Amino acid sequence: MPADPCCLHDYERLAQDLLEPGPHGYFAGGAGDERTLRANALAWGTHELLPRVLVDVSQVTTATTVLGTPVRMPVLVAPVALQKMAHPDGEAGMARAAAAAGTIMTLSTIATSTPAEVALEDPTDAPRWFQVYVLSDRGVTRALIDQAVAHGYTALVLTVDAPRAGRRERDLRTQFGVPPGIDMPAVTAATGGTTGITPAQFFSLMDTSLTWEHLEAFIADSPLPVLLKGVHHPADARLAVQCGVAGIVVSNHGGRQLDNVPATADLLGPVVQAVDGAVEVLVDGGIRRGTDVCVALALGARAVLVGRPLLWGLTVDGEAGALGVLTLLQAEVELAMTLLGCATVADVTADRLA
Ligand code: FNR
Ligand code: LAC
Repeated sequence: MPADPCCLHDYERLAQDLLEPGPHGYFAGGAGDERTLRANALAWGTHELLPRVLVDVSQVTTATTVLGTPVRMPVLVAPVALQKMAHPDGEAGMARAAAAAGTIMTLSTIATSTPAEVALEDPTDAPRWFQVYVLSDRGVTRALIDQAVAHGYTALVLTVDAPRAGRRERDLRTQFGVPPGIDMPAVTAATGGTTGITPAQFFSLMDTSLTWEHLEAFIADSPLPVLLKGVHHPADARLAVQCGVAGIVVSNHGGRQLDNVPATADLLGPVVQAVDGAVEVLVDGGIRRGTDVCVALALGARAVLVGRPLLWGLTVDGEAGALGVLTLLQAEVELAMTLLGCATVADVTADRLA
């Protein structure tokens, strides 16, 4: 093993040696036979890149904007639960790493810090988004959103592909429950405590009755722009646009929900076509290389989000490890763009796909 990780896969290997079976299984696992989990990572490689030559790439920039917010690269931090289970730096460390990398961190509802704590522990004024699960206890959800708004979060990401937990058999085999000493403020507010709680139990807090009418009302009532995360179907993407979303995240939850759905690399194109430029489309799932980011951009994504690799970075070295992952990925994107003959993110179009 190299002294310093030289790719995101190195962080995964290092993290596996540092985590107990329960937390590792929860972080790494997918649903069912993990077909979609595997497909997510493999599918980016099935969309081959086609370089153009003799393009001036003396000045390549990975900078772009997402919902009008400048970012240093088209790679955002996905909302991921239970980050203090990876490292005591937790979500606040992740937020500081995202700020240092010049990108946007999305804080999960099922976080181990509150929106206020994360904001107060990140001295920068970096842009942060808040990911919303609508709980049956709407008061808890409202309080979290109000807190996020009060602490300068700039968008809400409403996740809609998780009315229940997918069948995660790694968690069944390890009998995973949240370890003692790990608090999830939203879950505690809704249940009174989190020690030993299982994913199925904290998923049971979700409101499973949500419909498009609820989304329309949620958006109308929201003081912040709303992105819809977990869209698979082009028809749902069109409905989301009609409801007034500010953006769409094509996502299958990293293969953790319904197994046997297509990889997001294959879901992305039809959604981009259905949305037809009305809103920005982001994508996540299996992004592990700068070339994967370029494929996503060429397929029409505005940017990608990354989940597990940042957990591995956090596990290995807290805030510094998460920043190490983001720094590696930014360098890979810059190199891939250079070799593709793309000086700017806008140059990475379908023309660069075989
Ligand atoms: C997630 N994901 C997730 N999504 C969300 O909207 N709210 C959440 O609380 C969580 N929690 C969570 C925990 C863990 C351990 C994982 C691995 C994932 C899904 C996440 O935002 C994203 O969709 C996927 O992680 C993207 O796939 P990769 O990058 O992990 O392959
Ligand atoms: C998960 C939830 C928390 O995937 O989104 O575990």
